Amino acid sequence: MAVLLLAHYDQHARDLPWRSPPGSPPPPPYRVWLSEVMLQQTTVAAVIPYFTAFTERWPRVEALAMASDADVMAAWAGLGYYSRARNLLKCARVVVDAHIGNFPQSAAELAKLPGVGAYTSAAIAAIAFGEPVAVVDANVERVAARLFAIQTPLPAARPAIREAVQAITPTDRPGDFAQAMMDLGATICTPRNPSCLTCPLRTRCKAYALGIVEDLPVKAPKAPKPQRTGTAWWIECDGHVWLAKRPDKIMLGGMRALLDDDWSVRTDGHKTHPLPAQWQKVNGQVAHSFTHFHLALDIQRTHIQARANDLGNGEWWPINSLDSAGLPTLFAKAARLVLKDRKAQEEE
Ligand code: ADE
Repeated sequence: MAVLLLAHYDQHARDLPWRSPPGSPPPPPYRVWLSEVMLQQTTVAAVIPYFTAFTERWPRVEALAMASDADVMAAWAGLGYYSRARNLLKCARVVVDAHIGNFPQSAAELAKLPGVGAYTSAAIAAIAFGEPVAVVDANVERVAARLFAIQTPLPAARPAIREAVQAITPTDRPGDFAQAMMDLGATICTPRNPSCLTCPLRTRCKAYALGIVEDLPVKAPKAPKPQRTGTAWWIECDGHVWLAKRPDKIMLGGMRALLDDDWSVRTDGHKTHPLPAQWQKVNGQVAHSFTHFHLALDIQRTHIQARANDLGNGEWWPINSLDSAGLPTLFAKAARLVLKDRKAQEEE
């Protein structure tokens, strides 16, 4: 199995900025780690510009470890799942302070680092250090469920899938093998309309033989996401808007953001204004989906004459350079809506 797949990978590997060509020495562990953290829950296309920007600005783990929290959080803005960025920085500092800048070389040791779980530790160990461990992301899960015609629904099928992938992982080129499985899932063994006729593993595929490729993997039904509502507060003074720094332990923790009515730590927001002023509701609403709920966000805005000094942790940010504030997508959408609303009113 591995021989067939690696021969195909030698011809068709995707050329991605964190990879070295098939069969060549592995990329530095720093680049493998950074890319694998970014690629959790995130598409290759979305990650590429962030990976390039991070590695240009912080080419080595020592440089990243010395970066400020605010710079790293702002550079991550738009990529989502912000606890990854907080853990990224923690991990860089542990690698520098406790391991003199060298990543540990086994999956078991790597898994002790902040933000490095079962998937990421296996990926780094296989790709950067040649450890023959199974690397199982959602793409690989689908490929394996089909290859071995595993009909148990996910997530219950995970242990069987991991065992099956471990059994076909070669001791020679395990990193290329892992990435070849990912490429197969991304380009040929796709969720719908898989291209079985071009698949190098077709003759070995149990689901293909049974004619059930598109029925696999079976997934347990998901609970529908609840809808929640909240309000964000746009407080403007003299060409500046108040950007709070969100506390570390909540959703979007550590990021710059508009003040809000605590929707993230309640079911719905409390709607109580943060200061007495003339508030105006902004036309329209921002819709945004998180992992466990959908949010409909209202925005209210006010223009005050003197800077209030009791707004908590945050800063007055020039409105004409909001693009460089590193707002997470939800609040970037909210800011765009406010600016559109202001412009429409000015034109009235
Ligand atoms: N997804 C997660 N890791 C990846 C990798 N190394 N190459 C392509 N897609 C991936």
